[in-house]
Amino acid sequence: MIGAEALGMSNAEAAAREIALRHNFTEIRIPALERVELFARSTGETSDVVEKQMYSFLDRDEAETAVALRPEGTPGVVRAYIEAGLDRSAPEQRLFYSGPVFRRERPQRGRYRQFYQFGVEVFGRADPACDAEILVMGDEVCKMLGLAAACTINSIGDAVCRPAFRAALVEWGRANFDRLCEDCHNRIDRNPLRLLDCKIDAKLAESAPSSLDYLCDDCRSHFETVRRLATAAGVETTINPRLVRGLDYYTRTAFEFIAEGLGAQSTVIGGGRYDGLVEAMGGAAVAGIGFGIGIDRMALALEAAKQLRPTMPDAVMIMLGDKALAHGAALARTLHRERLRIETLSPERKLKALLARADKLGARFAVIIGEDELARGVVQLRDLTLGKQREVAESELAAALAKSD
Ligand code: HAM
Repeated sequence: MIGAEALGMSNAEAAAREIALRHNFTEIRIPALERVELFARSTGETSDVVEKQMYSFLDRDEAETAVALRPEGTPGVVRAYIEAGLDRSAPEQRLFYSGPVFRRERPQRGRYRQFYQFGVEVFGRADPACDAEILVMGDEVCKMLGLAAACTINSIGDAVCRPAFRAALVEWGRANFDRLCEDCHNRIDRNPLRLLDCKIDAKLAESAPSSLDYLCDDCRSHFETVRRLATAAGVETTINPRLVRGLDYYTRTAFEFIAEGLGAQSTVIGGGRYDGLVEAMGGAAVAGIGFGIGIDRMALALEAAKQLRPTMPDAVMIMLGDKALAHGAALARTLHRERLRIETLSPERKLKALLARADKLGARFAVIIGEDELARGVVQLRDLTLGKQREVAESELAAALAKSD
């Protein structure tokens, strides 16, 4: 990623960080390399991510530990949370993290083998108000970036009601066996929920059982409250009964934010609740919920939505002669401290070439200093848009550049 796309990624990360801080989340740094076992036990052995997409290898240590480049952030956060003893000493935590993740996928626009995620995780809050707050955060990140994105949501039930739903899916899969693709044949017994989001069998899946018809009273009331509170806070949610998410740990709420105008890889945020995960990983019975933002995809969405303005310098500085060069370096430093975006140009090129360069950079002003200006404590300030030049005292320069529009 270079130029506008890299800028889009930085903007997306900065917005996500800002929103996380406003909601009183604290940062956690997690390793990119973890044991394979961690992901097998959490992301799930039957998930595509673990089964097919993980970059794993045997470490050359004595135990020949099987390690993997993380395919997602949640398991590492859960591991760190338990290892720090927080599940027992201070279970309620709000954490955010950011960094590269790796999945061996078929690369295409918006789907990469190394991509970046910004994630948030909340532990110790089983109440639906927390789900709604998480949805608001996703919505706020999109709004802050000027991105139109729709929030789709589903509830996939919990340990009480999921078994019946799962059984119904297995039964449906067996009844439709001959019409299902080969991958789905394997999914029927191993991971029947994935029958619902198969790209190949999408049409057929419309006739599959819906999780919403199987929810127990607690899950139903949780789901309704999440949607009601989200609506009250200004986030419209649309139910997608086929939204099951590809990772095995989810319970109850599952959601995705879909950006407009992105084509196939349009899910920019995915997340959900994972109430049994901390306990399954050896910790206390603590609820969890979070989301991951696909930073690369967010950048593509921003570009498609024309929300990326290329960054232009406020001014370039052109110093003519050795004395002006030495003085100009110090002057540039004071302007940088005023938060102005200034590029000093090469002293080895002619004025005409330098002005052409300034134009190419899209600078509004050129600040020109020669021996004469230096002696009088002034600069020539050339407005490159209007084509006008005037003399400005050095002491007035920062102010003149700052109120350029
Ligand atoms: P995920 O849906 O697998 O969830 O990934 C989150 C986001 O990462 C996706 O919505 C998408 O924007 C982006 N993404 C996924 N794969 C790729 C790829 N190959 N190339 C580019 N972007 C991609 C998780 O990873 C969960 N850990 C989210 C979570 C946190 N759930 C609860 N807490």
